[in-house]
Amino acid sequence: MIRHVYTSLSLGPLNPSALSDILNTARRNNARDGLTGMLIYHNDRFLQVLEGPDAAVEDCLRRIEVDERHRRMRPLLSEQVTERLFTRWRMGFCDIKELSPEARESVFALTRLVEVSANGAVPDARLDAILRSFLLSVGATKLVPPA
Ligand SMILES: Cc1cc2nc3c(=O)[nH]c(=O)nc-3n(C[C@H](O)[C@H](O)[C@H](O)COP(=O)(O)O)c2cc1C
Repeated sequence: MIRHVYTSLSLGPLNPSALSDILNTARRNNARDGLTGMLIYHNDRFLQVLEGPDAAVEDCLRRIEVDERHRRMRPLLSEQVTERLFTRWRMGFCDIKELSPEARESVFALTRLVEVSANGAVPDARLDAILRSFLLSVGATKLVPPA
């Protein structure tokens, strides 16, 4: 099983209905494909965690990659795992206001990386630590349906 995390840039501010469209499709397909995860949308950036069987995650990422609602998809983590962090969420939506100040800082640091070329070296040796602390705290956060 793979856990994949990426950040990307939306093509402009998303209204709640555009966000709902993304989440509804994600939830329907992810239930079918055995995927779980969560999505944060803040400041025109997405931060998404996807977890599930290798082939299903890869197929889903291929679809997301060509989705014209966002661009500059930058992978932050792709690792083999034996347990899910988001067992109950086909695609949980996380409101940034629900996060602790530390977790919010992690989101800002991670989504800033969308500015960095995907081919560039990881710009910051602390990335891994930031990512781990983000995953730990967000795994324990209350996820909410979109407005
Ligand atoms: C930020 C973002 C996150 C997405 N997350 C998912 C997802 O978790 N699962 C999924 O199937 N599609 C997701 N999508 C939608 C896909 O890009 C694509 O539109 C969809 O999988 C096509 O499904 P359909 O053939 O059932 O319409 C996401 C799109 C965006 C822009």
